[in-house]
Amino acid sequence: MKLEEAKKKLEQFGQEHVLKYYDELSEAQKEALLDQIDQTDFAILENCKNLGKGGERGEFAPLAAMQLSEIEAKKDEFTKIGIETIKAGKVAAVLLAGGMGTRLGSDNPKGMYNIGITKTVYIFQRIIENLLDTVNQADGSYIHLFIMTSEKNNDATVAFFKENNYFGYPEEKITFFKQDMAPASDYDGKVYMEAKDRISTSPNGNAGWFSSMLKAGLDETLHKEGIEWIDIFAVDNVLQRIADPCFVGATVASKVEVGAKVVRKNAPDEKVGVMCLEDGKPSIVEYYELSQEMMDAKDANGDPAYNYGVILNYMFNEAALERIASKQLPLHVVEKKIGHIDENGNEVKPESPNGCKFEQLVLDMIHELDSCLPYEVVREKEFAPIKNKTGVDSVESARELCKKNGIEL
Ligand code: UTP
Repeated sequence: MKLEEAKKKLEQFGQEHVLKYYDELSEAQKEALLDQIDQTDFAILENCKNLGKGGERGEFAPLAAMQLSEIEAKKDEFTKIGIETIKAGKVAAVLLAGGMGTRLGSDNPKGMYNIGITKTVYIFQRIIENLLDTVNQADGSYIHLFIMTSEKNNDATVAFFKENNYFGYPEEKITFFKQDMAPASDYDGKVYMEAKDRISTSPNGNAGWFSSMLKAGLDETLHKEGIEWIDIFAVDNVLQRIADPCFVGATVASKVEVGAKVVRKNAPDEKVGVMCLEDGKPSIVEYYELSQEMMDAKDANGDPAYNYGVILNYMFNEAALERIASKQLPLHVVEKKIGHIDENGNEVKPESPNGCKFEQLVLDMIHELDSCLPYEVVREKEFAPIKNKTGVDSVESARELCKKNGIEL
């Protein structure tokens, strides 16, 4: 992009400050900044006025989950189907590791965090150990693991896996890909500058994973390998079962487009997104959108009708994902800490949220699909998320849960 064109584009969106330091930059920096301006979608910044406002929602109705008792009764049947599907090479896994992990506050990618007490146990290591449990159950059939990073953490993540010999997983069964980025702004929608030659950006949300895979040409790999099911999961749940054969089997046998691992809520007002139907399609209602009436609603057995929270572990049908790939997902505005330079060009690392990031979320992908199986798992056995350093959903609470499950740290 030429300077004149960049000026015009910035003017159109009220972002002229992006070129404030242009004259001080080297030729290479100038070129890089013009390129970034060219590639940036400034139109999304307008959405910052929607911060704190939920989008329009449709009509909610309960969606029954497959409960533990039913899963237990059909465990052998489901596990057999799951193992056959894995052995046939039809299952892949996608680790969502593109997030910035700002709440944990480490400078490294979250997966590099050492949660060990008496020995070193990295989060990435725990994930590979969990995946290897499935591989062993499937008699050594390795599952292709795709790892989504972002331009901010890709090099560190790739180098870390290499240094650690991929934690014993075959290198050729791991593929890294980068997710897209979105600009980050102050509360008035003015983009922050990360440096004099760079607009502040952040990963575009955890729904970016499939479109970013397609962009990286990985659909070819999926087709070549005959992958029909993709288990996606968050980097920070150190207890989760990955491509768990029983879950794979239940999803396949139920002939749904996506299976969703869920946990029973521990209180009607627990702060967790709940699986439901919205205008007849699978969806997730956020805790703050649950009315008293919905909290009090009961199913045919007298149990709460909106009772199963999602834990970001989904088994997607690949063909269904391709069908919805061109759908434009809603943009969510989230308030976060955004590093930037101030008006004097000095670097600022904010202690508290100072602006908006724009993200697409997996829950909106679910809503595009026609059918979903909420599949109950035992919270204490499969859900130990690490979001914070201490307190709720922290390194401390995850260590405690690992201990309860006999995992040495
Ligand atoms: P979170 O929203 O909990 O993670 O995402 P975060 O954004 O890294 O954390 P904070 O809010 O800054 O502390 C849940 C999962 O989705 C991934 C994260 O890496 C995590 O596994 N994620 C999130 C992405 O892969 N890309 C994104 O753009 C956002």
